[in-house]
Amino acid sequence: MTTPLVELRDISIAFGGVQAVDRVTVDLYPGEVVGLLGHNGAGKSTLIKCLSGAYQADSGEIFVDGKKVTINNPRDARAHNIETIYQTLALADNLDAASNLFLGRELTTPLGFVNEAAMEAETRKIMARLNPNFKKFSDPVSALSGGQRQSVAIARAVYFNARILIMDEPTAALGPQETQMVAELIHELKRQGLGIFLIDHDVHQVKTLCDRASVMKNGQLVGTVKVDEVTEDDILGMIILGKQPEKAA
Ligand SMILES: Nc1ncnc2c1ncn2[C@@H]1O[C@H](COP(=O)(O)OP(=O)(O)OP(=O)(O)O)[C@@H](O)[C@H]1O
Ligand SMILES: [Mg+2]
Repeated sequence: MTTPLVELRDISIAFGGVQAVDRVTVDLYPGEVVGLLGHNGAGKSTLIKCLSGAYQADSGEIFVDGKKVTINNPRDARAHNIETIYQTLALADNLDAASNLFLGRELTTPLGFVNEAAMEAETRKIMARLNPNFKKFSDPVSALSGGQRQSVAIARAVYFNARILIMDEPTAALGPQETQMVAELIHELKRQGLGIFLIDHDVHQVKTLCDRASVMKNGQLVGTVKVDEVTEDDILGMIILGKQPEKAA
Protein backbone atom coordinates (compact mmCIF):
# COMPACT_ATOMS: atom_id res chain seq x y z
CA MET A 1 0.00 0.00 0.00
CA THR A 2 0.93 3.65 -0.38
CA THR A 3 1.72 6.06 2.46
CA PRO A 4 -1.20 6.62 4.82
CA LEU A 5 -2.91 9.98 4.64
CA VAL A 6 -2.62 10.08 8.40
CA GLU A 7 -1.22 7.87 11.12
CA LEU A 8 -1.71 8.28 14.86
CA ARG A 9 1.14 6.32 16.42
CA ASP A 10 1.30 5.22 20.06
CA ILE A 11 -1.00 7.96 21.28
CA SER A 12 -1.57 8.21 25.05
CA ILE A 13 -3.50 10.75 27.05
CA ALA A 14 -4.64 10.71 30.67
CA PHE A 15 -7.04 12.93 32.60
CA GLY A 16 -6.10 12.90 36.26
CA GLY A 17 -5.99 9.20 37.10
CA VAL A 18 -7.93 8.07 34.01
CA GLN A 19 -5.85 6.69 31.12
CA ALA A 20 -8.36 7.75 28.45
CA VAL A 21 -6.16 6.60 25.54
CA ASP A 22 -3.36 4.11 26.05
CA ARG A 23 -0.72 3.69 23.29
CA VAL A 24 -3.18 3.56 20.40
CA THR A 25 -2.07 3.36 16.77
CA VAL A 26 -4.53 3.85 13.90
CA ASP A 27 -4.12 4.97 10.31
CA LEU A 28 -6.17 6.09 7.35
CA TYR A 29 -5.59 5.92 3.58
CA PRO A 30 -6.97 8.20 0.85
CA GLY A 31 -10.51 7.25 -0.16
CA GLU A 32 -10.89 5.12 2.93
CA VAL A 33 -13.42 5.20 5.76
CA VAL A 34 -12.14 3.82 9.07
CA GLY A 35 -14.77 3.23 11.75
CA LEU A 36 -13.85 3.78 15.39
CA LEU A 37 -15.92 1.63 17.71
CA GLY A 38 -16.09 0.87 21.39
CA HIS A 39 -18.27 1.24 24.46
CA ASN A 40 -19.05 4.59 26.05
CA GLY A 41 -15.86 5.93 27.56
CA ALA A 42 -13.59 3.66 25.47
CA GLY A 43 -11.56 6.69 24.39
CA LYS A 44 -12.74 7.20 20.79
CA SER A 45 -13.54 10.91 21.01
CA THR A 46 -10.43 11.61 23.07
CA LEU A 47 -8.24 9.87 20.47
CA ILE A 48 -9.61 11.85 17.55
CA LYS A 49 -9.48 15.08 19.53
CA CYS A 50 -5.69 14.66 19.53
CA LEU A 51 -5.94 14.77 15.72
CA SER A 52 -8.42 17.65 15.55
CA GLY A 53 -6.27 19.71 17.91
CA ALA A 54 -8.80 19.89 20.73
CA TYR A 55 -6.43 17.92 23.02
CA GLN A 56 -2.67 17.43 23.05
CA ALA A 57 -1.51 13.85 23.58
CA ASP A 58 0.81 13.12 26.52
CA SER A 59 2.89 10.97 24.20
CA GLY A 60 2.82 9.57 20.70
CA GLU A 61 3.26 10.92 17.19
CA ILE A 62 1.07 12.05 14.32
CA PHE A 63 2.11 11.65 10.69
CA VAL A 64 0.38 13.30 7.71
CA ASP A 65 1.49 12.01 4.29
CA GLY A 66 4.31 10.21 6.08
CA LYS A 67 5.67 13.38 7.66
CA LYS A 68 5.63 13.96 11.39
CA VAL A 69 3.46 16.92 12.33
CA THR A 70 2.69 18.85 15.51
CA ILE A 71 -0.96 19.59 16.18
CA ASN A 72 -1.40 21.86 19.17
CA ASN A 73 -4.75 23.42 18.28
CA PRO A 74 -7.58 23.27 15.72
CA ARG A 75 -5.79 25.81 13.54
CA ASP A 76 -2.78 23.46 13.19
CA ALA A 77 -5.16 20.66 12.25
CA ARG A 78 -6.84 22.79 9.60
CA ALA A 79 -3.42 23.73 8.16
CA HIS A 80 -2.96 19.99 7.52
CA ASN A 81 -6.40 19.81 5.85
CA ILE A 82 -7.94 18.01 8.80
CA GLU A 83 -11.55 19.02 9.47
CA THR A 84 -13.90 17.79 12.16
CA ILE A 85 -17.67 17.49 11.99
CA TYR A 86 -18.92 17.39 15.55
CA GLN A 87 -22.28 16.02 16.60
CA THR A 88 -23.16 19.47 17.90
CA LEU A 89 -22.66 21.19 14.57
CA ALA A 90 -21.09 24.60 14.80
CA LEU A 91 -23.55 26.37 12.49
CA ALA A 92 -25.04 29.85 12.83
CA ASP A 93 -28.77 29.06 13.01
CA ASN A 94 -30.05 32.40 11.74
CA LEU A 95 -27.91 32.37 8.57
CA ASP A 96 -28.50 30.52 5.31
CA ALA A 97 -26.36 27.68 3.91
CA ALA A 98 -24.02 29.94 1.89
CA SER A 99 -23.38 32.29 4.82
CA ASN A 100 -22.60 29.30 7.02
CA LEU A 101 -20.32 27.75 4.43
CA PHE A 102 -18.25 30.93 4.23
CA LEU A 103 -18.63 32.04 7.86
CA GLY A 104 -15.44 33.88 8.83
CA ARG A 105 -14.00 33.32 5.34
CA GLU A 106 -16.52 35.37 3.28
CA LEU A 107 -16.01 36.02 -0.41
CA THR A 108 -15.82 39.72 -1.25
CA THR A 109 -16.21 41.93 -4.31
CA PRO A 110 -13.21 43.91 -5.61
CA LEU A 111 -14.52 46.82 -3.51
CA GLY A 112 -14.47 44.71 -0.35
CA PHE A 113 -18.21 44.08 0.07
CA VAL A 114 -19.47 40.62 1.01
CA ASN A 115 -20.30 38.94 -2.29
CA GLU A 116 -23.57 37.11 -1.49
CA ALA A 117 -24.16 36.13 -5.12
CA ALA A 118 -20.74 34.52 -5.50
CA MET A 119 -21.11 32.69 -2.17
CA GLU A 120 -24.50 31.30 -3.15
CA ALA A 121 -23.18 30.27 -6.60
CA GLU A 122 -20.25 28.43 -4.98
CA THR A 123 -22.59 26.81 -2.45
CA ARG A 124 -24.89 25.62 -5.24
CA LYS A 125 -21.90 24.21 -7.11
CA ILE A 126 -20.58 22.20 -4.20
CA MET A 127 -24.05 21.01 -3.15
CA ALA A 128 -24.72 19.83 -6.71
CA ARG A 129 -21.74 17.55 -6.19
CA LEU A 130 -22.35 16.49 -2.61
CA ASN A 131 -26.10 16.50 -2.17
CA PRO A 132 -28.01 17.24 -5.41
CA ASN A 133 -31.36 17.09 -3.57
CA PHE A 134 -30.44 20.06 -1.39
CA LYS A 135 -32.77 22.93 -2.34
CA LYS A 136 -32.98 25.14 0.75
CA PHE A 137 -30.47 27.78 -0.23
CA SER A 138 -32.31 30.82 1.13
CA ASP A 139 -33.65 29.40 4.42
CA PRO A 140 -31.82 29.93 7.69
CA VAL A 141 -30.16 26.64 8.65
CA SER A 142 -32.40 26.43 11.73
CA ALA A 143 -35.14 25.46 9.23
CA LEU A 144 -33.09 22.53 7.91
CA SER A 145 -33.33 18.90 8.95
CA GLY A 146 -30.46 17.21 10.82
CA GLY A 147 -29.19 15.58 7.63
CA GLN A 148 -29.37 18.81 5.64
CA ARG A 149 -27.42 20.55 8.41
CA GLN A 150 -24.84 17.78 8.19
CA SER A 151 -24.49 18.42 4.46
CA VAL A 152 -23.86 22.13 5.08
CA ALA A 153 -21.16 21.30 7.65
CA ILE A 154 -19.60 18.74 5.30
CA ALA A 155 -19.75 21.16 2.34
CA ARG A 156 -17.93 23.71 4.48
CA ALA A 157 -15.14 21.26 5.26
CA VAL A 158 -14.85 20.07 1.65
CA TYR A 159 -14.91 23.56 0.16
CA PHE A 160 -11.91 24.49 2.29
CA ASN A 161 -9.94 21.49 1.04
CA ALA A 162 -10.40 18.94 3.80
CA ARG A 163 -8.48 15.76 2.98
CA ILE A 164 -8.96 14.15 6.35
CA LEU A 165 -12.44 14.29 7.80
CA ILE A 166 -13.30 13.33 11.35
CA MET A 167 -16.96 12.56 11.98
CA ASP A 168 -17.94 11.91 15.59
CA GLU A 169 -21.28 10.06 15.55
CA PRO A 170 -22.69 12.03 12.61
CA THR A 171 -25.95 10.08 12.48
CA ALA A 172 -26.61 9.61 16.21
CA ALA A 173 -29.50 12.10 16.29
CA LEU A 174 -30.88 11.36 12.82
CA GLY A 175 -33.85 9.36 11.55
CA PRO A 176 -33.43 6.58 8.96
CA GLN A 177 -33.85 8.82 5.89
CA GLU A 178 -31.45 11.42 7.21
CA THR A 179 -28.96 8.69 8.10
CA GLN A 180 -29.21 7.43 4.53
CA MET A 181 -28.46 10.95 3.26
CA VAL A 182 -25.31 11.15 5.38
CA ALA A 183 -24.31 7.66 4.21
CA GLU A 184 -24.55 8.85 0.60
CA LEU A 185 -22.47 11.91 1.46
CA ILE A 186 -19.80 9.70 2.96
CA HIS A 187 -19.73 7.58 -0.23
CA GLU A 188 -19.34 10.72 -2.32
CA LEU A 189 -16.47 12.02 -0.15
CA LYS A 190 -14.76 8.63 -0.48
CA ARG A 191 -15.05 8.83 -4.25
CA GLN A 192 -13.38 12.22 -4.07
CA GLY A 193 -10.44 10.64 -2.26
CA LEU A 194 -10.96 11.98 1.25
CA GLY A 195 -10.05 9.84 4.21
CA ILE A 196 -12.65 9.66 6.94
CA PHE A 197 -12.49 8.60 10.59
CA LEU A 198 -16.05 7.72 11.51
CA ILE A 199 -17.00 7.21 15.15
CA ASP A 200 -20.17 5.16 15.18
CA HIS A 201 -21.97 2.88 17.63
CA ASP A 202 -23.96 1.08 14.93
CA VAL A 203 -22.03 -2.03 13.90
CA HIS A 204 -24.30 -2.64 10.90
CA GLN A 205 -23.65 0.88 9.67
CA VAL A 206 -19.91 0.42 10.14
CA LYS A 207 -20.09 -2.79 8.07
CA THR A 208 -21.80 -0.91 5.23
CA LEU A 209 -19.94 2.40 5.33
CA CYS A 210 -16.41 1.55 6.42
CA ASP A 211 -13.45 -0.19 4.82
CA ARG A 212 -11.80 -0.98 8.14
CA ALA A 213 -12.86 -0.81 11.74
CA SER A 214 -10.64 -0.06 14.74
CA VAL A 215 -12.10 -1.14 18.06
CA MET A 216 -11.14 0.41 21.40
CA LYS A 217 -11.80 -0.77 24.94
CA ASN A 218 -10.72 0.95 28.16
CA GLY A 219 -8.47 3.31 26.24
CA GLN A 220 -6.63 0.53 24.40
CA LEU A 221 -6.85 -0.62 20.82
CA VAL A 222 -8.40 -4.09 20.63
CA GLY A 223 -7.54 -4.36 16.95
CA THR A 224 -8.21 -3.18 13.43
CA VAL A 225 -10.03 -5.37 10.92
CA LYS A 226 -11.13 -5.13 7.31
CA VAL A 227 -14.93 -5.13 7.52
CA ASP A 228 -15.22 -7.54 4.53
CA GLU A 229 -13.22 -10.16 6.40
CA VAL A 230 -15.34 -10.24 9.57
CA THR A 231 -19.00 -10.54 10.57
CA GLU A 232 -21.01 -8.08 12.60
CA ASP A 233 -20.76 -10.56 15.48
CA ASP A 234 -16.97 -10.59 15.18
CA ILE A 235 -16.95 -6.81 15.58
CA LEU A 236 -19.42 -6.98 18.49
CA GLY A 237 -17.14 -9.57 20.09
CA MET A 238 -14.20 -7.20 19.81
CA ILE A 239 -16.23 -4.43 21.45
CA ILE A 240 -17.60 -6.58 24.27
CA LEU A 241 -14.81 -9.10 24.94
CA GLY A 242 -11.95 -6.85 23.92
CA LYS A 243 -10.27 -9.48 21.75
CA GLN A 244 -9.72 -10.10 18.06
CA PRO A 245 -11.92 -12.65 16.27
CA GLU A 246 -10.07 -15.98 15.86
CA LYS A 247 -9.81 -15.94 12.06
CA ALA A 248 -8.78 -12.29 11.70
CA ALA A 249 -6.26 -12.51 14.53
N1 LIG B 1 -11.93 16.46 29.34
C1 LIG B 1 -11.93 15.36 30.09
N2 LIG B 1 -11.63 15.39 31.41
C2 LIG B 1 -11.59 14.28 32.17
N3 LIG B 1 -11.87 13.06 31.70
C3 LIG B 1 -12.19 12.95 30.40
C4 LIG B 1 -12.23 14.08 29.52
N4 LIG B 1 -12.58 13.67 28.29
C5 LIG B 1 -12.75 12.34 28.37
N5 LIG B 1 -12.50 11.90 29.63
C6 LIG B 1 -12.56 10.50 30.08
O1 LIG B 1 -11.80 9.73 29.17
C7 LIG B 1 -12.44 8.48 28.91
C8 LIG B 1 -12.69 8.35 27.42
O2 LIG B 1 -13.72 9.24 27.04
P1 LIG B 1 -14.17 9.49 25.52
O3 LIG B 1 -15.08 10.64 25.50
O4 LIG B 1 -12.97 9.53 24.67
O5 LIG B 1 -14.96 8.13 25.23
P2 LIG B 1 -15.78 7.71 23.93
O6 LIG B 1 -15.22 6.40 23.50
O7 LIG B 1 -15.81 8.81 22.95
O8 LIG B 1 -17.24 7.44 24.54
P3 LIG B 1 -18.72 7.74 23.95
O9 LIG B 1 -19.05 6.57 23.09
O10 LIG B 1 -19.56 7.79 25.17
O11 LIG B 1 -18.68 9.04 23.20
C9 LIG B 1 -13.68 8.46 29.79
O12 LIG B 1 -13.36 7.78 30.95
C10 LIG B 1 -13.96 9.91 30.04
O13 LIG B 1 -14.64 10.09 31.25
MG1 LIG C 1 -17.35 10.02 22.17
